[in-house]
Amino acid sequence: MAIVCKSAAELEKMRRSGHVVRQVLDTVKAMVKPGITTMDLERAAAKQIEELGAKPAFKGYYDYPCVLCTSVNQEIVHGIPSERRVLKEGDIVSLDCGVVLDGYYGDAAVTVAVGESLRPEVHKLLQVTEESLYKGIEKMRIGNAIGDVGAAVQEWVEAHGFSVVREFVGHGIGTRLHEDPQVPNFGPRGHGARLREGMVLAIEPMVNLGKPGTRVLDDNWTAVTADGSYSAHFEHCVAVTKNGPLILTE
Ligand code: CO
Repeated sequence: MAIVCKSAAELEKMRRSGHVVRQVLDTVKAMVKPGITTMDLERAAAKQIEELGAKPAFKGYYDYPCVLCTSVNQEIVHGIPSERRVLKEGDIVSLDCGVVLDGYYGDAAVTVAVGESLRPEVHKLLQVTEESLYKGIEKMRIGNAIGDVGAAVQEWVEAHGFSVVREFVGHGIGTRLHEDPQVPNFGPRGHGARLREGMVLAIEPMVNLGKPGTRVLDDNWTAVTADGSYSAHFEHCVAVTKNGPLILTE
């Protein structure tokens, strides 16, 4: 499938859906504290998406049951909110949300600490994963290759002793949640399609504290680290423009 480039008017619509996603993430992020359940976060997100006049992008997508993904500790992505999942001091939780507004999708994620007593190496994991997202975004320039984005993410992550997940990748986004191309969080540099003006990519590094291996739980959604180590996930939708990368989910 061809990679779709977006006009300035389309990017403006995507900025609006990106803004809804950001508001929802800000809301649920502020709620994260010991004792809250991931279903509490789901309810707040669903309510706000509706209030803002958007539709959830994940609910019903391949039968995914919720508007949010809430992935705790060794869960990498696609954790399903649950009344039974009570967050506790020292946990980390990745909050991933997608919406569609006026026909255009937005998708973003952050990983946050629960409480104030993260192990130092876990604090470092969150910091390095977020930084790696911006290393990738910096490569979103006309003429660069998709592999340049992934290589920048991978190099930053591995320089700090962590590992990038191989089985799940970022993606093009626009009038569908997932468009071409796939955007791996690894190189090699120069590999894959060249970036052109108007391309929009969801860049989403998934970084494990330990080894890169993954498996999927019996719920057929929740991806976890094979070695049980903690994992972090940050995501932005970013457009390639003449003036460089434009983050649509800020
Ligand atoms: Co995504």
